[in-house]
Amino acid sequence: VTLQYQPTGGTAAAIAESIEHGIRDGALASGDALPPIRQLASGLGVSPGTVAASYRLLGVRGLTASDRRRGTWIRELRTEDMTFARRAIPVPDGVTDCSTGNPDAALLPDPLSRLASMEYHPASYGSPVADPELIAEARRRLAGEGVAAEHVTCSFGALDAIGRILSSNLAPGDRVAVEDPGWAALIDVVERLGFLTVPLPIDPEGPTTDGVWQALAAGARAVVVTARAQNPTGAAISLQRAGELRALLARYPGRLVIEDDHACGLVEVPLAPVVGTTGRYGFVRSVAKGYGPDLRLAVVAGDPATVTRLEQAISMGAGWVSHLVQQLVLAMWNDADVSDQLTRASVTYRERRSALCEELGRRGITVTAPTGLNVWIPVGDEATAVSALLAGGWLVAPGNRFRIKSAAAIRVTTSALGVERAPELADAIAAACASAGGRGRRADSGG
Ligand SMILES: Cc1ncc(COP(=O)(O)O)c(C=O)c1O
Repeated sequence: VTLQYQPTGGTAAAIAESIEHGIRDGALASGDALPPIRQLASGLGVSPGTVAASYRLLGVRGLTASDRRRGTWIRELRTEDMTFARRAIPVPDGVTDCSTGNPDAALLPDPLSRLASMEYHPASYGSPVADPELIAEARRRLAGEGVAAEHVTCSFGALDAIGRILSSNLAPGDRVAVEDPGWAALIDVVERLGFLTVPLPIDPEGPTTDGVWQALAAGARAVVVTARAQNPTGAAISLQRAGELRALLARYPGRLVIEDDHACGLVEVPLAPVVGTTGRYGFVRSVAKGYGPDLRLAVVAGDPATVTRLEQAISMGAGWVSHLVQQLVLAMWNDADVSDQLTRASVTYRERRSALCEELGRRGITVTAPTGLNVWIPVGDEATAVSALLAGGWLVAPGNRFRIKSAAAIRVTTSALGVERAPELADAIAAACASAGGRGRRADSGG
């Protein structure tokens, strides 16, 4: 592609900024090639090193990709504008919102009731990132579930940990394998950090062994997998799949493996960890789904280098993760009433998810959603299906933000949907699938 847009500037920062402007104004589109370094350098009267530095800056910002053969080009930008498009969609009156992926607020434990009775040792400047008591308990719990947890720290949630682990271990342009379909926010972050995504196909037992092998063979430096309640499909990594993946990964020492266990306590499937056979890993357990997204906390086990780098990254910025929140989470972890409430919540989530899957099955749409808060339903055309459902009073998420190469689908969050409403929603989905050319009849369509 020839570049019509002429970058300007006399420094690396200015050149990068002018290209960023071009992207924002629409003068540069995804796939457009940037001029060869020497050509632009002579046109601008700067050294090739200056242009190369400006291209590196764009790569770090996730705006461009490059390789030896094609040079540097504008990446496909998944978000419509230059900011994250993660805001909630406004819900029209009378419409039931099944688009968010959130847990049901009514099923979250009440943190305030624990605050008053809890012991609190305030942290201050110079405090460690992670509260030692929380970490001791996390270590004990993770080790009990088969995760190598000698080194544990914490972060501001799963996405924060995964982003920091990737950026402190890899360089922009490196390949990162992510589930496809997968967590939209994660795919966005991986791209924004300047990595190239390699899609991992997924079935109800997790990322396929063959898919992970192909990604590793294609040079993926890191693999990110979800242990349970995979977003959006609900897949949970089975014991057998975990064994296969561990054996495969053992043949690739040094590759980074990140495992996201965001639904701990909310799924009835035991953990079958994948991490630990390459020497480089981060096992990330967020409390968002069980205890509340607003707590912004995840505990992270990893090899010493990964844990140290993550802690350094946090201490260089925010300093530490609020020890008030950490001690609150520890109090909730150790509270028998909260544990009972979580067990009941996991049953409720299963009932709500299964009710919809069963009703869809009765209407000839076979979907599998083994765990989690969502049901992923293949459709012919996402926009048609989403608007047909909206017209019928249901807001669901179009699948495109969760997909790289996988087929069109919609994501329906069932976390807050009473079982009595499942038949009504299944009717609407069946009608929407019919108008959108649904292909939901395949037995494996949940993956
Ligand atoms: C797959 C997955 N992991 C983790 C999380 C939680 O992320 P965080 O801890 O950053 O809130 C979510 C939330 O939607 C998710 O979908």
